[in-house]
Amino acid sequence: MSITLGLETSCDETGVGIVRDGVLLGQALASSMDQHIRYGGVVPEVAARAHLESVSQVLRQALTNADVSLDQVDAIAVTSGPGLASSLHVGVSAAKAWALALNKPLYAVHHVAGHVAADTLEHGPLPERSIALIVSGGHSSLLMLGDLATDPIVHLGDTLDDAAGEAFDKVARLLGLPYPGGPSIQRAAETGDPTAVDLPRPLLGSKVSECHRYAFSFSGLKSAVARHVQLAQRTGAPLQAEDVAASFQEAVVDVLVTKAVAACRDHDIDTLLIVGGVAANARLRSVAETRCRAAGITLRVPAPKLCTDNGAMIAAIGDLIVHSGAKPSGYEFGADSSAP
Ligand code: KG4
Ligand code: ZN
Repeated sequence: MSITLGLETSCDETGVGIVRDGVLLGQALASSMDQHIRYGGVVPEVAARAHLESVSQVLRQALTNADVSLDQVDAIAVTSGPGLASSLHVGVSAAKAWALALNKPLYAVHHVAGHVAADTLEHGPLPERSIALIVSGGHSSLLMLGDLATDPIVHLGDTLDDAAGEAFDKVARLLGLPYPGGPSIQRAAETGDPTAVDLPRPLLGSKVSECHRYAFSFSGLKSAVARHVQLAQRTGAPLQAEDVAASFQEAVVDVLVTKAVAACRDHDIDTLLIVGGVAANARLRSVAETRCRAAGITLRVPAPKLCTDNGAMIAAIGDLIVHSGAKPSGYEFGADSSAP
């Protein structure tokens, strides 16, 4: 039996989670999102200061929620990248201090592996092989997974420009909807018509070259929305933000799910995970559920609060690494903001 504490500070959420042998005992989260709203995006200096101010309180709260004392913790895991450098520095420094003071092993972990591991807290160990679609503010990737803690992750495809979450955030701004854009667009889309605006499905269809089979591109879609908004402004036609939001969301979801299902079929893999902040999107979850069922694919998507950044996911990947018997990372590592 071992208890792993995980710390996440790669962006604007300060999260601590505590996991014992694959079971989440408790977690706590603080967010500086409110401080970024007026800038329309995360301001790194503001986020880093907020981490510094809240990290000790979040630690205390997570221990209380998990009903665990610090001296019961056996290992500490921390996000070392990718993410905002100044935010990562706060987390890595704090985790080093905790590990040194407690004389416990410290593990530097990859943020994206954490997003995937979050799912194991709810749905148990991963099968031998699976496909993961990672969709967040910084990533849109299709990955082929084996054992998360020990096997290399095979990278099938990535976005050529904006990440899916970034596209949601930018399109929300174009429509005058508040940051973060994903939840705002989802809310607006609830009363919109997804067929109202004819938007492209980038890199989808028979004409797409093999090298782009699993690649994504969302900047053209964003530009198409921008042109629609400009046209409405020029002609004085009323802009139906709900219809544009619904049409945009439908296009993104269509591309993501089509490519993820194709990746499963091509590799003869029958489990698909969808993780990362955009996996909280209700329309994505529902379309993926329908299409996976039709294709005989088992879909695994964590509960929305485990999709967006949190400390539990870092404790989860830390726990898997501890159980794999891997060596701790020591104290010499730094933050790797652009970790591949
Ligand atoms: O994983 P995450 O919390 O942070 C990163 O690692 O980037 O993802 C944040 C992203 C933001 O772009 C946000 O707009 C998007 O996830 N997001 C959503 C939803 N909730 C969060 N996108 C679409 N629909 C949602 N419900
Ligand atoms: Zn993330």
